[in-house]
Amino acid sequence: MNYPSWDVPIIGSGWVIGIIAIIHVLISHFAVGGGLYLPMAEHKALREGRSDWMPVLHRHAKFFLVLTGVFGASTGVAIWFAIGLASPEGTSTLIHNFVFGWAIEWCFFCVELSTAAVYYYTWGRIPDKLHLAVGYVYAAFSFLTLVIINGILTFMLTPGEAWLSVAGTGMEASKFWHAFFNPTYFPSLGLRTLICVSLAGIWALITASRLDGFEEPELKKSVIQWSSKWLIPAFLFMPVFFFWYLYMIPEAQRGLLEIGIGKVGSGVFTQVTRAALVTVMSSATIGAVVYFLAYRNPRDFSFGHAVAVLLLALSATASTEQAREMLRKPYVVCRHMFSNGIRLNTDVERFNREGYLAKSIWVFPVEREAWARTDAAIPQPGAVVPAAQSTMSPEDWQAHMRRGELMMRGQCMACHTTDGYRPLRKLLGGRDRDSVGNILKMLHDYGDDSPYKKYMPPLVGTPQEIAALTDYLAVLVAPAPKAAPEKVADAAGK
Ligand code: HEC
Repeated sequence: MNYPSWDVPIIGSGWVIGIIAIIHVLISHFAVGGGLYLPMAEHKALREGRSDWMPVLHRHAKFFLVLTGVFGASTGVAIWFAIGLASPEGTSTLIHNFVFGWAIEWCFFCVELSTAAVYYYTWGRIPDKLHLAVGYVYAAFSFLTLVIINGILTFMLTPGEAWLSVAGTGMEASKFWHAFFNPTYFPSLGLRTLICVSLAGIWALITASRLDGFEEPELKKSVIQWSSKWLIPAFLFMPVFFFWYLYMIPEAQRGLLEIGIGKVGSGVFTQVTRAALVTVMSSATIGAVVYFLAYRNPRDFSFGHAVAVLLLALSATASTEQAREMLRKPYVVCRHMFSNGIRLNTDVERFNREGYLAKSIWVFPVEREAWARTDAAIPQPGAVVPAAQSTMSPEDWQAHMRRGELMMRGQCMACHTTDGYRPLRKLLGGRDRDSVGNILKMLHDYGDDSPYKKYMPPLVGTPQEIAALTDYLAVLVAPAPKAAPEKVADAAGK
């Protein structure tokens, strides 16, 4: 345990990343798609001599610049802060493996952000051809940022056999290209590109909806109908890339989805399946709303309608990203590192032998001394020992509890909170110490038949550390003392 754990009450640290990431995806994919939309629309307006389109596009370019340059860029940086805090080991792995990729990414960002600004500020001031060229340079570079980040994101789900074969040996960088162009790279790039293109249309509807349909009916109609067509590629090709993507993900991970689909009839969904269903339903609704309200009825298409479409897109994005995250459970880098930063091949055995907290820098020397004493008080390694409080001094008991708490923070809090999201207090509710101990034993043994193996990492540590976690959790979930019976009767009588 080399890093502190980030305790976010109620929602848990994972959801902090999730919320920022969903907003970021919605804006950054627009930055890519919209980057193509603007010069193509300008090109069309120039070719067809539609000077009435120009002010609309100019307004859209401003909206685009502010949204992507301010909110897109700041949520992007916020993701770095959030993942660094929530998942330091995972972030470190990504940085160490892809340092060259990140460096290129930053260069592309610089070109992207500067050309976006140049495109907007030189509107009407430089020759049309040159202005268009700036637009297309922007489009190319924003697509390149996707080309890079897609490699790193897909790596986390499917690092690929070549990289896995050297994982943890220090030779990982030699498999950079294998890790980058991993099995889900191309289907995911296809999916994301389609999402970019349709988001370009969806965000353009926001600008277009503000045109006055009575004063400028023809203008509003032409912009809205042209923008609506940007959704067509997604509806045609999304299924192809989606099934290709599913085909490329590891059997065990796909299993998470299949369990759910097979049982939809009987009402038992996994979270992944539920998220996938929300994606399909909101995408279908977007298609219908855009066709009937925007394409067929452009004059009456209002700002409220456009926002509704955007909210549906938000829900589709949120559920897709959630399904993608859930598919990776219990890993942060599939088959290499668990969500709590523990490495499958190198850490599990070592922590069981040496102790999870043995080298932790978050332990005070006095606590280590107390632990050495309490180790003696927990006589039978591996067995579920009786609550040890009676055999320890108050100070030792306190150190023992701290040991349990550090275990919980380090190993469980990546996915659980105490009372909010996936609340341990509720999931363990009503269990006494022995029964908590039994669950932890199952988590620790982690046999192939363990029901928990599908979504939880193995619990690691020495028997004494696990005993400390058992005591800590047993105290955490112990029911609060009940009110005296006569008081309850009193209250009921009034
Ligand atoms: C990789 C994420 C992850 C980590 C880390 C994790 N869990 Fe879980 N845990 C889950 C998920 C997902 C569920 C299923 C939640 C649900 O059903 O709502 C779950 C469920 C549980 C349950 C309920 C099991 C049941 O049979 O109903 C318990 C108890 C539990 N976890 C304890 C722990 C403890 C203790 C730790 C730390 C040692 C831990 N978990 C670490 C993801 C995780």
